[in-house]
This record gives sequence, C-alpha cells and structure tokens, in this order.
Amino acid sequence: MKERLLQLEKAALSEISSLKNKEAVLEFKNKYLGRKGELAALTKEFGKLPPEERPIVGEFINSIRGRIEERINNLLTAFAQSEREQRLKGEKIDATLPGRYLALGKRHPITQVMDEVVKIFSGMGFAVAEGPEIETDYYNFEALNIPKDHPARDMQDTFYIGEDVLLRTHTSPVQIRVMQNKKPPLRVIAPGKVYRRDSDVTHTPMFHQVEGFMVDETITFGDLKGVLTAFLHSLFREDTAIRFRPSFFPFTEPSAEVDIQCVICNGKGCRVCKGSGWLEVLGAGMIHPMVFKAVGYDSERFSGFAFGLGIERIAMLKFGIDDIRLFFENDVRFLRQF
Ligand code: DAH
Repeated sequence: MKERLLQLEKAALSEISSLKNKEAVLEFKNKYLGRKGELAALTKEFGKLPPEERPIVGEFINSIRGRIEERINNLLTAFAQSEREQRLKGEKIDATLPGRYLALGKRHPITQVMDEVVKIFSGMGFAVAEGPEIETDYYNFEALNIPKDHPARDMQDTFYIGEDVLLRTHTSPVQIRVMQNKKPPLRVIAPGKVYRRDSDVTHTPMFHQVEGFMVDETITFGDLKGVLTAFLHSLFREDTAIRFRPSFFPFTEPSAEVDIQCVICNGKGCRVCKGSGWLEVLGAGMIHPMVFKAVGYDSERFSGFAFGLGIERIAMLKFGIDDIRLFFENDVRFLRQF
C-alpha cells in the first residue's frame, strides 16, 4: 500500500509541473484530492489493513495530501499574481499626459467690476444700501428735485408701469430712502440695476449703476474731489490723470462731471475719446438743499456730496470693449475671456 501511495505522489508531483493555468490546477486537485479522487480511492482500502498499521498509513496519507496541497496552493498563488500583473500592464497610466481640467465658472465681467467698485468704497468706510427697481415718481424724480417738465421724465427715456410707478432710471432714489431712515453722518453706496428706453452700441435698456453719497456737518467739495480721485486711482491706475468739469444735475449744486485721461490712447486723442483725450466716467456734486429738504435734513447744518457711475461704461473702458451689448448676449466665448 505504501508503495502505491508513493507512486501516486510521484505521478501527482510530476503532473503538477506541467499545469498551465488555474482551471488545469483545479481539475488536477479534483483528480487527486477530490472526494472521488485517487487518494480517496486508496484510502478506501484502509479498512483492509491490520489495525496496528492503520495509524502509520493514515499519517502517511495525510502527509502526501499536505505536500500536494501545498504545491497546488503555491501554484494558484503564482497564477493569481501573474494574472494581476498582466491586468495592470493593460491598465498602465501615462503620468506624463496633461490632466483633464474641470470647466470652472467665473463671475460675469459686470459683476466683477461691480464687486471691485463696492470693495474700494467699503475700504473707505462706505456702507452698502439697496432700493427697489420698481420705484415711484416721487423717489425717482420729485424728491430729487426733478420737476414735472424735466426731460428725464419723457416717455422716451422712462419705462412707466403706471401713472406714478416706473422702473427706476437711476440709483439716486436710494439716497432719498436712506436719508429718510437714517441721520448723518452717512457714507453709503447703492449698487443696482436701472432701466431706460435706449438701445445702441453704448446703451442697453437695463444697465448697472453705483450711487454714492456722504453727509455730515462739514463735508466740502474738497471731500468730493479727494474721495473720487482716490477711487478712480484705485480702479484704474495710480497715475491716471483726472479732471473735474462743471456740469448740471437737478439734485446737486454745484455739479460736476469727472473725466479720466483716455485709457485707450493715453490722452493723445482717438476714436473712443472722440479726439479729446478724456473720457467721462462719473456724475457728481454737492447735494442740493431741495433734496435735504425732501428728507427733512437741515441744509444749514448738514452738507454732503453725491455721485453716480455706470458700471457697463467702466467695464468697457477697463476691458477695451466697444459694444455694450456683448455683456448681455451670454456668449461663453466672450465671457470666458474675463
Ligand atoms: N443719477 C445720475 C444719472 O443717472 C447720475 C448722478 C449724477 C448721480 C450726479 C449723482 C450725482 O448722485 O451727484 O445720470
């Protein structure tokens, strides 16, 4: 019996070295070690042995089974490993390929300029206020000393919703709303959308303005010039030339328009500045006594300045854009550039 067992081991161990894959190994395992396998067949004859030999032969069978199992397990591990290596080779990553970028959203250029303007004034201690886009005639015109026959009230310019209700044509009414509710000293800016019946390369029916004002007991035109100069130097360049020109607004007296040296031609004269070398960027002035009267401020005691600027116009100058409508067409090829 021992002889037959040794032969079986020999046959098994020589066969095992010719096995090529996992399937063949499993088949082999079944053939020798399975319940109907060769080792099991020999074990059946166990009962014919004299009792004193049984433990010895039993131990011998177990040791053969152990050795064959060990070889099988080694082989299976080796096959699994080479299969894994094979798979990894196929999945090889080229770490030198450029990465795939996620498309990142960006703020709209108008929002960018708006945020920058707000940031500069916040840095000078101005608070931010907002008012409604649907306004009454009183806030948009009357309280700002714009009389009934003023051209700004013309049906050509204003979108009327009703007799006394309209889409605000400027952010100046926020001045009135804030001053009605708060006492000086005040330093406030009011960014927002405004509406006018107008449409060409430099006008859209909706655009953005930032209104600003400062009121206290000793505010002078010097404060106006100082604050607006600091603002424009921060928004454009530290050495941008600035000039204040006399002008007229119903809600300020005296009034001024503020120009910067043309950013396109540096003051030499070009198509954008119409040969003048200057670009108008702001309207401003000392708040009119009639406006103070409308909000119940004593104009003998308080003084203040106010200003208004158009965000689209500033964005066009900053980015060198010659058609305002590009901002509102939502063409990503345009928007991606900012
Ligand atoms: N509200 C004016 C406009 O829309 C802009 C403006 C000019 C605002 C002068 C002001 C100012 O506060 O003082 O054209």
